[in-house]
Amino acid sequence: MERALPLGQLTDILNKHDQCGLCRLIAITVRRSWNLDNKPDINITGITCALYAEWIAALDTEGYADLHIPSSILPVRRDLCHRLRIKTSSRPKEVTAALDATQSSQILEIQLLEEDASKVGRTRELHGRRVGQTVDIGILKRWIHICENEHREKCETMWWTDPGDILPKAMRVLDVVRMAIVQAPRSCRYVALSYLWGGTGEDYRTTQANLKQRSRSGGLDISVLPVTILDTIEVVRQLDERYLWIDALCIVQDDPKDKAKQIGAMDLVYGKSVFTIFAAGGTSVRDPLPGVRPGTRNPRQEIAKIQGLHLAVPLVHPSEARVSSEWNTRGWTYQELMLSRRRVFFTSHHMHFECVKDVFGEDIVAERVNFPWASHPLMFTGAGQVMRSGVRLRSQSGMRLRNQRGMRLRDSEYMVIVEEYTRRRLTFESDILNAITAFINVMTKAYRWASGEPSGAFRFGMPIGDLELALVWQPAANAFRERRVLADRNGRPFPSWSWAAWRGAVQYGSAYVAFVGENPGSPPDIRESLVEQWYIVDDDGKLARQEVWRSGRTGDAAHWTIYVAPKGDIDIRQLTSKNALLRPGTLVFRTSSAHFNVAKADDSIADADANYAIYSILSDIPQPSTWVGRVLLPSSTHSPTLCEFVVLSRTSGSAGWFDDGRFDEHKVLERVGYDGCMFYVMAVQNMQDEERMERLGVGVIFDRAWIKSTAEQKIVFLG
Ligand SMILES: *[C@@H]1O[C@H](CO)[C@@H](O)[C@H](O)[C@H]1NC(C)=O
Ligand SMILES: [Zn+2]
Repeated sequence: MERALPLGQLTDILNKHDQCGLCRLIAITVRRSWNLDNKPDINITGITCALYAEWIAALDTEGYADLHIPSSILPVRRDLCHRLRIKTSSRPKEVTAALDATQSSQILEIQLLEEDASKVGRTRELHGRRVGQTVDIGILKRWIHICENEHREKCETMWWTDPGDILPKAMRVLDVVRMAIVQAPRSCRYVALSYLWGGTGEDYRTTQANLKQRSRSGGLDISVLPVTILDTIEVVRQLDERYLWIDALCIVQDDPKDKAKQIGAMDLVYGKSVFTIFAAGGTSVRDPLPGVRPGTRNPRQEIAKIQGLHLAVPLVHPSEARVSSEWNTRGWTYQELMLSRRRVFFTSHHMHFECVKDVFGEDIVAERVNFPWASHPLMFTGAGQVMRSGVRLRSQSGMRLRNQRGMRLRDSEYMVIVEEYTRRRLTFESDILNAITAFINVMTKAYRWASGEPSGAFRFGMPIGDLELALVWQPAANAFRERRVLADRNGRPFPSWSWAAWRGAVQYGSAYVAFVGENPGSPPDIRESLVEQWYIVDDDGKLARQEVWRSGRTGDAAHWTIYVAPKGDIDIRQLTSKNALLRPGTLVFRTSSAHFNVAKADDSIADADANYAIYSILSDIPQPSTWVGRVLLPSSTHSPTLCEFVVLSRTSGSAGWFDDGRFDEHKVLERVGYDGCMFYVMAVQNMQDEERMERLGVGVIFDRAWIKSTAEQKIVFLG
């Protein structure tokens, strides 16, 4: 950091915002970033500010930019630019929490406009750019050109598939020159659109009745097209592109066969598009693409002239612009975002571009600058990062495949996808799996599961190869305790062991958050498989053995309790009333089962209105009411006080997950740690009017407490 210029009390700056240009810019920056206008109670008394100029370095050598290593140890060109940053003496806790929650940038800055860069002896790079009422299509063209010509295969490759994969034969595109819906030419270069349906009237959609008419040159009647689509056609023409893919126009909406085929190929449709335009400015297809026509956006770039130099408040960060859009709340748009290699966002704030390698925005000159990602001015986590990790995963899975048969999901893709996706809304709940079909295809292909057959690799949205990990999902504390209104294709409800059966957001790291209140980013970890064989009842009512990846004992297992997993095939003929148990979708496994008392934990962090709460699992061994584990359960007044638990797998624990001081082994645990000393258990209950069980919650129990309990072998039929 260079020398900082003290600016005094933040409260004074906010008060003087209309007397001094610099105060105005700083006030706007801090107010917006800290959301002060909506949170008048935040106490900012005593906080002081300073302005300092930070060097932004670029890398001397191409190729380092993707490495997440500190820029301090890389060869850098130090003379690129100064960004003007505002340093505050402290930051209110609530503000930090809010910024973390939305993954927003914590940096406060203002920028010198490019037109004045030469006055301070700098080039234009990394300085601010004026943003007009309408989008400069020339800039967008330049970004696409840079990506195609300089990033090349990095941004061409789809990490999940082979280059040879071709688009479905029946794929249609809109030819914006002939204004007709046509068969996509071979290796067609096209643009895709991601937008929200809705608004009134559906006469713009392609149906069996109007397809023929629309296939003729000039046959697409533009007077029925909603404005999002008209604006997109305009952008595509101005970019000198010819073909455009829009679901409502290119899929025959009343032809179920056509629909199924195209939805099944959605990963290729978005993955192979040259870029995707995201209409993230409005709430339906009746809203314009902001900035294509005059009067459709108001970028409100705050600029002040200070000592002859134009300074500006940067516009809303691209990731925030996206996250705050209505478009971003919908389920269907998630895979469209994640599978597109290049993305052009039109939000109400501005237009920006994201590819695997870079992010460009309208209000900062950041093209052709070779940054370390960590100091990228528009850096953010989110979609761009997933594309990156996707690339990494692909090569990793290749490596693993040579050693082992399966690819472990471990800390990654699937869980992140489920967490982010289940936070979004669906107009039709029954779309819960349809809207991520492309993702399921992508993961099946990328990890080469089930010989690339999605219906074998995933059941009810759960990856069968990694079922043990997938089973330990947790509902977010404020999720509804309600089954989704949906059914599989045979009209049966989804089984309770799949997250897709339940409404509301799902989390995978939350066991850690819930039980210890820290490490929210840690994914669950399975240290040993404790179920020998898993079966799912197929559509014919037969037990089908599943290929589930098993974890052997890993690490230092010397202090783990020996637990022998109940073994043996499951012989259906010996079961009485087997028909009632063998409903399709039932998960069947042999394990051990025990009953424990449960009581709401005193230190439960969930609020009173939450639908789920943390419960302590209690045992009378070694002493009455010994706290032996934790479980997340529905927190209604009817919550059980006695629960049946079944063992799933072995995981690691932590001090504070049970009363370790009451166990003889606590000295050992203190010495060697809690690695591998817990069992993942599922709380189960009988289904209403059924012999099958259903999932109530998932938790952890200290392994010794389980061994000392009166556990019995059991075959679990989980519906
Ligand atoms: C606000 O913070 C200041 C400094 O930390 C403190 O002196 C003051 O009492 C606080 N005011 C309120 C209303 O909490
Ligand atoms: Zn690129």
